[in-house]
Amino acid sequence: IMYDIAIISGDGIGKEVMESAEYLLDKLDLNFNFNYGEAGFECFNRNGTTLPEETVKIAKSSDATLFGASTSTPGQPSPIINLRKELDVYANLRPIKSYRGIKSIAQGIDFIIVRENTEGLYSQIEYDDDEKVIAERVITRKASEKISDVAFKLAKRRKLKSKVTCVHKSNVLKVTDGVFKESFYKIAKNYPKITTEDFYVDAMAMYLITNPLNFDVIVSTNLFGDILSDESAGLVGGLGLAPSGNIGDDNGLFEPVHGSAPDIAGKGIANPCSMILSTAMMLDYIGEKETATRVNNAVEKVVCAGKVLTPDLGGTAKTMEMTQAIVKELI
Ligand code: NAI
Ligand code: MG
Repeated sequence: IMYDIAIISGDGIGKEVMESAEYLLDKLDLNFNFNYGEAGFECFNRNGTTLPEETVKIAKSSDATLFGASTSTPGQPSPIINLRKELDVYANLRPIKSYRGIKSIAQGIDFIIVRENTEGLYSQIEYDDDEKVIAERVITRKASEKISDVAFKLAKRRKLKSKVTCVHKSNVLKVTDGVFKESFYKIAKNYPKITTEDFYVDAMAMYLITNPLNFDVIVSTNLFGDILSDESAGLVGGLGLAPSGNIGDDNGLFEPVHGSAPDIAGKGIANPCSMILSTAMMLDYIGEKETATRVNNAVEKVVCAGKVLTPDLGGTAKTMEMTQAIVKELI
């Protein structure tokens, strides 16, 4: 099989870690055809837009898309938020895992946050009627049921604790989060073997710190999912180890959680693991599950061995040195 992969590197370390992803994909015994698209700040300076239509077309017509990171452009829309919208990738998956030897709040943490990616407080419907300014928090039964279904399917596949935790604030947001919670329990009926629980988001923010081993799959609305996933990345070693996938019915878009890191860009010292782990999620998405597991294991081996680490993890290795060490472990 030949897989068409859209490659959108963007700016800063986005370009550097994308080189790692391409290097790794080239070493696998699979066939990829890379389609390159531009996006971001430098792209705006060249083309007058942060997300050219051509890039959207390339992403839509590929089997999956890899995105590096973009530097925000003053007064211009975020290319990644618009690309997620264009591709209708409604589920944002953020796995959180502790690695032996890397500073973490506890060992054995292994959960995944499933964040609704299209509505909630990020509907971007805001207005000012002089007297008051209003942001609409749009929740639909359709999107709520869809995102819960993604969470239950994942719990079934992961075969860990077989549990899904729904996070909401239905005691205050009775109507909107009432529907979100109701949709969760409606979908739960289709998965009788999966354990369910639900928590208010404020309590959940504490439980992630006091009892992180309790969790398997966590599903929430857009803003809560965003906040809890950054909190969770902070529990286990930071942005250099945080991958993500955006998944819809027709498209998959995979990107590190971090940005373009102008403070270290150009030095060749960015941690490639977030991008490489995101690439593994992409491999899983296109159906190459065995290879995805091999890549995840190779990252784990190198990170836990502690010999070839970039400066953010306490080492002195360059991006490409760590990448090569990971690729060596693939065999
Ligand atoms: P950032 O994630 O780029 O950097 C935050 C801190 O983490 C910096 O100290 C950076 O050096 C470090 N860091 C991030 N990734 C790293 C890696 N792979 N290896 C080692 N260290 C790493 O966030 P920041 O500084 O808030 O934003 C910088 C630019 O990136 C801004 O223009 C922002 O808008 C943009 N951004 C873009 C995102 C995207 O394209 N998806 C996401 C977040 C920010
Ligand atoms: Mg965020």
